[in-house]
Amino acid sequence: MTTTLNDGTTMPMHGLGVFQTEAGDEVRNAVTWALDAGYRLIDTASIYRNEEGVGEAIAAHDLDREDVFVTTKLWNRDQGYDRARKAMDASLERLGMDYVDLYLIHWPIPDLTAESWRAMEDIKADGQARSIGVSNFEPHHLEQLLSGASVPPTVNQVELHPHLQQHAIRDGCAAADVRVQAWSPLKQARVLDEPTIVEIAAAHDRTPAQVVIRWQLQSGILTIPKSVHQHRIVENADVFDFELTSDEMAAMDALDRGDRIGPHPDGFAEQHRPDA
Ligand SMILES: NC(=O)c1ccc[n+]([C@@H]2O[C@H](COP(=O)([O-])OP(=O)(O)OC[C@H]3O[C@@H](n4cnc5c(N)ncnc54)[C@H](OP(=O)(O)O)[C@@H]3O)[C@@H](O)[C@H]2O)c1
Repeated sequence: MTTTLNDGTTMPMHGLGVFQTEAGDEVRNAVTWALDAGYRLIDTASIYRNEEGVGEAIAAHDLDREDVFVTTKLWNRDQGYDRARKAMDASLERLGMDYVDLYLIHWPIPDLTAESWRAMEDIKADGQARSIGVSNFEPHHLEQLLSGASVPPTVNQVELHPHLQQHAIRDGCAAADVRVQAWSPLKQARVLDEPTIVEIAAAHDRTPAQVVIRWQLQSGILTIPKSVHQHRIVENADVFDFELTSDEMAAMDALDRGDRIGPHPDGFAEQHRPDA
């Protein structure tokens, strides 16, 4: 299942996240199992400190580089024009690649956004990233970025799961033709015992994780569940041969309670800004 981004690029709607996946064997195995199971999108970041292993596993696989969509992210301390250009070079070096498919500003730092985004646009123009986007951008961050951008972001990756459904962000992104991608799509496994989800899962003879992932895909949201266990990596990708009914979708939509597990983007990145 793929979507077309506003720059014309095709992007898988489903992928593997590798946050809190250790460098070395753990990340190499997770990426290899994911590619074996049909995943074609891997989501890493320089701050995850596992880009080398991601690159090694992709290089060692039978797939061609162009068959895999690789995302990495610009860390907060690297924001600003020159720092961002160097950070992209360093990520590509660690990945062992000459381009990534998607490069994201990891968190908004409003007074550095314009400068960092100018670097992102040049990174795209130079072919180091096929697409560029943002992460953790609230509607006001997106508006600020769009007001000065020559190239609009393609994707906004935000915390999104049944307990935090992010309607304001989704509306703002839809209006700007920006795709929303869910991070912590399973609320780091803390939504899997939710009775409504357990009940829907039983009705389909599926697992709660599969129901959550399916709900995201049917809602038009891109999703990148993380696991380091092969059976879960396989399970989380086995979501393309069943469908939630409109009543089940409505029941999932009703679980929103504005409950986040990560930091609120306003002010978070300030503590890691380059001059902090
Ligand atoms: N842009 C950002 O600021 C940001 C922030 C956070 C995350 N992300 C991205 O989003 C990805 C996903 O988010 P996340 O890693 O925070 O959380 P998540 O995908 O919601 O949940 C991962 C947790 O759920 C467990 N799990 C996975 N599949 C399961 C299943 N089928 N049944 C039971 N438990 C299962 C995993 O355990 P095991 O690994 O032990 O199986 C892990 O503890 C990250 O890996 C990263 O790529 C981005």
